Amino acid sequence: MAFQATLHFLLSLVILSFLSVSATYYPRYACDLDKNPSLKEFAFCNTSLDIKTRVSDLVKRMTLKEKTGSIVSVADRIDRLGIPSYGWWSEALHGVSDTGPATWFNKTVVPGATSYPQVILTAASFNESLFYTIAKVVSNEARAMYNTGVAGLTFWSPNVNIFRDPRWGRGQETPGEDPLLTSRFGVAYVKGLQETDSGDKDRLKLGACCKHYTAYDLDNWTSVDRFHFNAIVTKQDLEDTYNPPFKSCVFDANVASIMCSFNKVNGKPACGDKELLEGTVRGEWKLNGYISSDCDSLEVMFKDQRWAKTPEEVAADALNAGLDLNCGDSLKNFTANAVKKGLVKESVVDRAVTNNFVTLMRLGFFDGNPSKQMYGKLGKKDVCTQAAQDLAREAARQGIVLLKNSLGSLPLIPNYIKTLAVIGPNANATEAMIGNYGGIPCKYTTPLKGLSDSVKTIYEPGCKDVMCASTAGFEKAKTAAAIADAVVLVMGTDISIEHEALDRIDIDLPGQQNLLVSEVAYAARGPVILALMSGGGVDVTFAKCNPKITSILWFGLPGQEGGAALADVIFGRYNPGGRLPMTWYPRSYAESVSMGNMNMRADPSTGYPGRSYRFYRGEAVYPFGYGLSYSLYVHHLVKAPKHVTVPVNKAHTCSQSSCKSFSATDNVCNGLSFDVDIMVTNIGKMSGSHTVMLFSYPPRVIYNSPHKQLLDFKKVRLGPWKRTSVSFKVDVCKQLSVVDEDGNRRVALGRHVLQIGDLKHNLSLKI
Ligand SMILES: *[C@@H]1O[C@H](CO)[C@@H](O)[C@H](O)[C@H]1NC(C)=O
Ligand SMILES: *[C@@H]1O[C@H](CO)[C@@H](O)[C@H](O)[C@H]1NC(C)=O
Ligand SMILES: *[C@@H]1O[C@H](CO)[C@@H](O)[C@H](O)[C@H]1NC(C)=O
Ligand SMILES: *[C@@H]1O[C@H](CO)[C@@H](O)[C@H](O)[C@H]1NC(C)=O
Ligand SMILES: *[C@@H]1O[C@H](CO)[C@@H](O)[C@H](O)[C@H]1NC(C)=O
Ligand SMILES: *[C@@H]1O[C@H](CO)[C@@H](O)[C@H](O)[C@H]1NC(C)=O
Ligand SMILES: *[C@@H]1O[C@H](CO)[C@@H](O)[C@H](O)[C@H]1NC(C)=O
Repeated sequence: MAFQATLHFLLSLVILSFLSVSATYYPRYACDLDKNPSLKEFAFCNTSLDIKTRVSDLVKRMTLKEKTGSIVSVADRIDRLGIPSYGWWSEALHGVSDTGPATWFNKTVVPGATSYPQVILTAASFNESLFYTIAKVVSNEARAMYNTGVAGLTFWSPNVNIFRDPRWGRGQETPGEDPLLTSRFGVAYVKGLQETDSGDKDRLKLGACCKHYTAYDLDNWTSVDRFHFNAIVTKQDLEDTYNPPFKSCVFDANVASIMCSFNKVNGKPACGDKELLEGTVRGEWKLNGYISSDCDSLEVMFKDQRWAKTPEEVAADALNAGLDLNCGDSLKNFTANAVKKGLVKESVVDRAVTNNFVTLMRLGFFDGNPSKQMYGKLGKKDVCTQAAQDLAREAARQGIVLLKNSLGSLPLIPNYIKTLAVIGPNANATEAMIGNYGGIPCKYTTPLKGLSDSVKTIYEPGCKDVMCASTAGFEKAKTAAAIADAVVLVMGTDISIEHEALDRIDIDLPGQQNLLVSEVAYAARGPVILALMSGGGVDVTFAKCNPKITSILWFGLPGQEGGAALADVIFGRYNPGGRLPMTWYPRSYAESVSMGNMNMRADPSTGYPGRSYRFYRGEAVYPFGYGLSYSLYVHHLVKAPKHVTVPVNKAHTCSQSSCKSFSATDNVCNGLSFDVDIMVTNIGKMSGSHTVMLFSYPPRVIYNSPHKQLLDFKKVRLGPWKRTSVSFKVDVCKQLSVVDEDGNRRVALGRHVLQIGDLKHNLSLKI
């Protein structure tokens, strides 16, 4: 999604000037039969007819001009048909946001909405029901805001791009580097936003959007930016890394929209690539909804990418490729001429209009006054409820990752702490806790506030801001550390370091932060806890190796209740159980790897180390999946097969000659699965939540297959000295397969090693 200031401003202006006509807000909807009974004669307003019939009736009534005004993000009003202007662009990545111009806050109407942790931290919880629950609450707040006239119904969230490089300024918005975790998050979040309480699959509570399709994840790094970036992607990487989350959004969550990205993929702008849009999204995956551009990808195609000689050709190319909606106004300006010049058929425009209106129809937009519909009673009172805010605190603490804990350092016992020094540029953070695609939160609980609610604190920022250019505040910070019983250093980044349109150059703590941490640790007389607030990983090897720094924890960008959650963990009111959803690389990685290299696989011939735990075999500061707890959990294998035999008949090629692998779409795949049962025991004194991750190491049969991959995960809650069994059903073809160089999934025969925690198990797969 774009942050192009001018466009944002223009769109806001359009909406605001329209609204200033009347001071009170009202929800947008069509077919207001109460006010205008003559609309009854339109079949598209007849709620007893099916959606397909209604939309086709509507599109038949429209002129070309009305159609081209209906395929842009601020869609024109059509008075003669009783259709108001509709703003398509709203955002709800981790709470209802005012980043999209169709949703905003107003002090008297709805002053703010609950702000959940930035996605990267929520993902660290590895808790699918949490992902779903958050989205469900967000959808209630969004519907409540729609009813009060300050929000749309279509939200361009979530971001399911793979967090491929630690420097990416939008990595924070994603569920991390693993395609399975990213898919699971995407599916749960989309379902939470979209599903209605009636269970009717034709109906939508909100329209979600999985973005940015595809192979995006570079914003602005050295001399390359997303408008000019040409992502060179292999079929293998596209199929097993970049595309799976989008496919899951469509297949498993029936998402209402896919947004194509700014960048080119293998030389073609993603929004003008017929194979990617029409071929894959609509053809292969069967998207039931609309494909939107980023804001404004079409203008970028024309001006930055010089894709065609005229904007009419760009409009035609995008529509012909399968685009339905343009964030911006290019399609409104240029489509009619493109039709006249014969560059695109009107029937293609009809397809686009139809896909957009089907979505609005499923949302109830054409069913008259929303106050009489299913969510009509939701209003201001349903935004920022205590329960919603408690969930923000719960989500942050479920995500917090304990990275280091010298014996007995954490949790701190409040009675033993007469004074706690709270130091660092993020110690009193407010907006910094929210990150990209924020809104106005209900309130902020800063780290300082959270900690001060439990013990007496002395606060010293040490540095003026996260840039930490000066050491002028260091002496005061050291003095505070020397007199306090314990120290919490709240360090890290904010959106001045990692943001949309701003990738990092290095992955160290910014400015003089390392020095502040080391000097304070040296001066301290009690335990020193380093609390890191950031979207991406940071190289904190210096702190990991420093015995004076007794604990390290990462709390992402924790949302409005970040400080309360941090204090809950530090004082042992919550037992941390988050796990890193991305590899934390050493600084040398950012020094030696080009961010523009999209290859996931390592290349020994050039020294390119590869990306993510699946392919990168070098040292990590902290690996994917890492995270400690105040308890210890042990796993015992109860049941897993040593051999799995694939039954093939005589006609099968594998029965004729010896074969090393077979296609994951082969008939033999039907029902081919096995169970892995384990027992997990909490051998600590505290109850806690523990994520059981099932990995596999496939045999090295398919060229460049991953070294290791996550097959499944489950989260369990366990009291002290309690145990429980956890079962995984492994579908051989779906889960054990890997993608070959041609982009086809294949199952390798031979030894697959399964891994859960310290447990390893050999499984031999043969014909
Ligand atoms: C907020 O809403 C109120 C009530 O509708 C309206 O009077 C006021 O002008 C709005 N404020 C802004 C800044 O738009
Ligand atoms: C709406 O459609 C139903 C089903 O076809 C029909 O019976 C009814 O008369 C229609 N209502 C109006 C107002 O045309
Ligand atoms: C579309 O037309 C409007 C009105 O003339 C103009 O302000 C806007 O810049 C145009 N947009 C593009 C992408 O050319
Ligand atoms: C913390 O920040 C808030 C708001 O940004 C400010 O009002 C408050 O004075 C700060 N607290 C301290 C102790 O500086
Ligand atoms: C890239 O970042 C630089 C600052 O680092 C900024 O001046 C420039 O406008 C950005 N470009 C884009 C396209 O976002
Ligand atoms: C997952 O999150 C939900 C929602 O907050 C929570 O009720 C549940 O206990 C969590 N599961 C575990 C195992 O912690
Ligand atoms: C798995 O097989 C390998 C190779 O035969 C062997 O070295 C290893 O010890 C086995 N591991 C287990 C857990 O049985």
